[in-house]
Amino acid sequence: MLRAIICGLGWRRGIWGCAFSSWQPHQPPAGLLSATKVVSHWTAVFEEKGIPEARESSEYIVAHVLGAKTFQSLRPGLWTQPLTPWQLQCIQELSSYRLQRMPVQYILGEWDFQGLNLKMAPPVFIPRPETEELVEWVLEEVTKGPRMVGAEGGPLILEVGCGSGAISLSLLSRLPQSRVTAVDKGEAAICLTHENAQRLRLQDRIQIVPFDVTLVESWAHLLPWGPVDLVVSNPPYIFHQDMEKLAPEILRYEDPVALDGGEEGMDVITHILALAPQLLKDSGSVFLEVDPQHPELVGSWLQSQPDLSLHLVAVRRDFCGRPRFLHIRRSGPQRGSPVDAWPGRQPVRVPG
Ligand SMILES: C[S@@+](CC[C@H](N)C(=O)[O-])C[C@H]1O[C@@H](n2cnc3c(N)ncnc32)[C@H](O)[C@@H]1O
Repeated sequence: MLRAIICGLGWRRGIWGCAFSSWQPHQPPAGLLSATKVVSHWTAVFEEKGIPEARESSEYIVAHVLGAKTFQSLRPGLWTQPLTPWQLQCIQELSSYRLQRMPVQYILGEWDFQGLNLKMAPPVFIPRPETEELVEWVLEEVTKGPRMVGAEGGPLILEVGCGSGAISLSLLSRLPQSRVTAVDKGEAAICLTHENAQRLRLQDRIQIVPFDVTLVESWAHLLPWGPVDLVVSNPPYIFHQDMEKLAPEILRYEDPVALDGGEEGMDVITHILALAPQLLKDSGSVFLEVDPQHPELVGSWLQSQPDLSLHLVAVRRDFCGRPRFLHIRRSGPQRGSPVDAWPGRQPVRVPG
C-alpha cells in the first residue's frame, strides 16, 4: 500500500526516500510508542497547528502504516503494541505532509469510492462522497427500465472529466454489461484512470481518451460502440470568484482546472450540453453534478437552446439537502443530427 505514495504522478517524495533524520520536531517522546498513543500525539500536534480533522487524519495515517484502512479495523492487539522505529519514522514522514495541509487521500495514495479502492495522486481531483450519490442515482435510473439499456444489455456511457476514474469505474463494476468512454483534458487524470482501470481489472470495458470538451474537435472517436445511452459528468462547476475561498488542502494540491467553472460555473457544463445531443441516442440522458445555483441556471440555459432538444427532467438533492444533481433528457431525434447519420464525423457546435 505504501508504495502508492512514491508512484504518484508528479509525486516523487515519499517515505522510501527519507532517511532517519536527526531533526524530528514533532516526534513523540520515547515511551509513547503504542499506536493509540501515537494517534493521540499526532492529533494534539495537528490540533495545535490548526489542521482540520486532526484525529481522523492521525488515525488514517497510523492505520495505513500498520496495513489497515481504518484505525477501528486494526486488530485490537495492535492498538497497544509498541511500534517499530521504522513505523514511527513512516508516521512522522506522512504526518509532516499533513502539517503542510496535504489531503489525507494524497498522503495515503489511495481512497475508497463506492467500495472500490482507487489510487490517488496529486493533482488529480479526489472523488467526493456526494459523487457517490450521483453514481447511485444513475444506477437507480438504469435499473428502472429498458430506456437506458443498450444493445448489449447494459448502457453505453460517456463520462466527461473522469479524473481518477471514480465514476466510470464504479459504474462499470456495477453494470457488468456496460461499456464506458471516459474523457479528460488532463494528462495526469488520463494516466490515473488507466492505472485504476488496470488495478480493478476493468480495462477491457473502458476506452480512456484525452479530450477537451471546450475545443471544437472531432468527437467521432468517442463513439467506438455507437451513440451512447448516458453522458455522466462531475464537471468543474465552482464559480470563479469562489475559488480563492477554498481550503488550503484544495488550493495547494488539486488541479484548479478540475474545479473552476468560470464566472457562473457554467463554462464546461454548457460545452457538455452542447456536445451531448451529438453523442446520445434518442431519449438518451445526461446526469450532472453541479452547484446548488445551477439547477435554475442550467434550466434557463436549456430553454434558450431549443435546438439541443435537451430538457431538465429531474433535480436531486445531496445528503445535505442541497439541489446538486441534474437529470437531463434528449427528447428525440434532432433534424440532421450527426448521431442519426453515425458514424459520420461532424464538428461540435457550441451555441454562443
Ligand atoms: C471535478 S473533477 C471530477 C473528476 C471525477 N469525475 C470525480 O468525480 O472524482 C472534473 C474533471 O474534469 C476535467 N476537465 C476540466 N475541464 C475539462 C474539459 N474542458 N474537457 C474535459 N475534461 C475537463 C478535469 O481535468 C477533472 O479531472
